[in-house]
Amino acid sequence: MPTDFPDHALHVACIMDGNGRWAGRRGLPRTEGHTEGEENLARLVRIAVRRNIGWLTVFGFSTENWQRPRPEVRHILGLHEKLFGRVAELNELNVRIQWIGRPFDSPMARTPRYVQRAIRKAITDTAGNTGMVLTVAFDYGGRSELVAAVEAARSSGEGVNVESIGEHLYLPELPPVDVLVRTSGEQRVSNFLLWQAAGAAIYFTDAAWPDFDEAELDAALALAR
Ligand code: FPP
Repeated sequence: MPTDFPDHALHVACIMDGNGRWAGRRGLPRTEGHTEGEENLARLVRIAVRRNIGWLTVFGFSTENWQRPRPEVRHILGLHEKLFGRVAELNELNVRIQWIGRPFDSPMARTPRYVQRAIRKAITDTAGNTGMVLTVAFDYGGRSELVAAVEAARSSGEGVNVESIGEHLYLPELPPVDVLVRTSGEQRVSNFLLWQAAGAAIYFTDAAWPDFDEAELDAALALAR
């Protein structure tokens, strides 16, 4: 679907790291850090809209995150249900929400039905919005995405090349990433958008995700503009 933005609208992608450490420094349980991380994402979406960013993609849950303790996984799943439930806010901001990740019917997929339902409903209920596109990576891994895309390109008979792989990614409409952000002092890409971020500038910051604010976003954007 077209957006109100020209083709060169910026694509910012965020690896939202450091929720657990943010909480630990305050003597709070890790889950409180994730809760604050979700609140901060909601704040950041508003700021990104004001900055005229075209595409904001965030790493909500990786294929590896299933290995975390069950109560923590349950809490993070609940936060995704909450985030995808923010339809009124997204509509007020003219933001269209998308999801990128392992297809729900793939053999390895483990996404519970209530999260699937929340994702599907939010996508449908915001489909008419023409402003920023917020894409949440959930049960996402870049290598799995590439393996699936190469297999699909090969079996479609198009041959394996840059165009055919691009057409078979989980979300082919996602444009190249301009700036990849990683918070909390880690300087790794961690299997996030390996194809889409091939040419991205990278902004590393010591700030934990719950503290990633307007000034931090502007510092990241300075790398792209
Ligand atoms: C990293 O913190 C963050 C995650 C594992 C992903 C969960 C992200 C959120 C809950 C914030 C956004 C919310 C949604 C619903 C998309 P960490 O636990 O790795 O922190 P640590 O490295 O300090 O332990």
